[in-house]
Amino acid sequence: MYHFADRWSTEAMEKTGVILNNLFSAMSDPTLVSFGGGSPAKEALPVEILQRISQAVFRREGRGVEALAYGQTQGLTDLREIIVTQLLAPKGVQTKIENVMITAGGLESMNLMCQVFINPGDVILVEDPTFVHCTMIFQMFKAKCVPCPMDDHGLVMEEVEEKIKQYHPKFIYTIPTFQNPTGITLSQERRQKLAELAETYDVIVLEDDPYRDIRYSGHDLLPVKSFDRVGNVVLANSFSKIFSPGSRLGYIVADEQIMAKLFDAKMATNSHCSKISEVLCAEFFKQGYYPEHLKKICQIYRERRDAMMESLDAYFPAGTKHTYPDGGLFTWVELPGGINTTELLAESVRHCRVAFIAGEGFFVEGNGKGSNAMRMSFGNVPVDVIRSSIKTLGDYICAKL
Ligand SMILES: Cc1ncc(COP(=O)(O)O)c(C=O)c1O
Repeated sequence: MYHFADRWSTEAMEKTGVILNNLFSAMSDPTLVSFGGGSPAKEALPVEILQRISQAVFRREGRGVEALAYGQTQGLTDLREIIVTQLLAPKGVQTKIENVMITAGGLESMNLMCQVFINPGDVILVEDPTFVHCTMIFQMFKAKCVPCPMDDHGLVMEEVEEKIKQYHPKFIYTIPTFQNPTGITLSQERRQKLAELAETYDVIVLEDDPYRDIRYSGHDLLPVKSFDRVGNVVLANSFSKIFSPGSRLGYIVADEQIMAKLFDAKMATNSHCSKISEVLCAEFFKQGYYPEHLKKICQIYRERRDAMMESLDAYFPAGTKHTYPDGGLFTWVELPGGINTTELLAESVRHCRVAFIAGEGFFVEGNGKGSNAMRMSFGNVPVDVIRSSIKTLGDYICAKL
């Protein structure tokens, strides 16, 4: 008989765990076409570039020792300089390398923020729907996730303000650009307003922005962090979608006082990230590969997005609604006719060999919300397979109706 920690025994944790397990089992079956996970395209991984970079790194005069030895907790200095100058400054975020820490991906940033701030019972406002993996992290720290409504332009600010007054949350967790799971983007005015609310009510906005660079139509928007005047916005970003998810690299940008605590939490967790990953990533940017690479991957995703949009319009039943993302990897589809997508998923896997994620799991309070919805990720499926699989699934749904 094992006596696991109390944090594992909540009903919310169990529910979220089941959703995540289902998600990963659908992703790992190679005989299925999966629109389930948020993986980048394999064609978008810079394999050949890294072959060249790593050979140079591991030559005697290269950076091999740095890559293989213990290193600084906050991460390689040159990688943090690249983040400040190449990734943040052009987006209107003026900061110093002391305010940036490398993390083992966006998920570790969420974990560290919870370690630093969350007591059991603290409230975190989350988008409704939201990214289920982060919900699981918040629940692991026994936070209460309170959903906040969104419309086509993201979180509705009047509702955010109401909920701040009602619940006094520790964080407002938002994915402002090409949101997971909906693909919706928070408008510029609302980004500014959110930073103002964080200041007025002294609450932290946790801005999770891993998709922002993968934009292939529309105009770039400034991060919420760029409007932050008092240090109440903490920005988490990731190299998973623009470089490599397997390298497990991300970064967090925060005010000095918060950074000092994040530093201690990181030290107490794993001391620092993989220096091999950090060195390879730093060289990738320093040697100027990123702009061309980004152009290439945006082209891949634009074609896949277009194929997905055209196929949904052509083959799904009349009355289907879907978002039209300007970037990122996801679209959110709502079906007509009372179809339950959790049941549909089981049928689709059996009869069509096509997987997606049913919508219900993305809503923290359940109540049947999202029961007609599905998250479709087009990032990791080639154009011709998108067309044929969406046709197969669409035909199946039409026949069902
Ligand atoms: C909104 C969001 N945040 C964080 C992550 C996790 O990213 P990472 O691979 O950097 O841990 C993802 C990955 O899909 C995501 O969609």
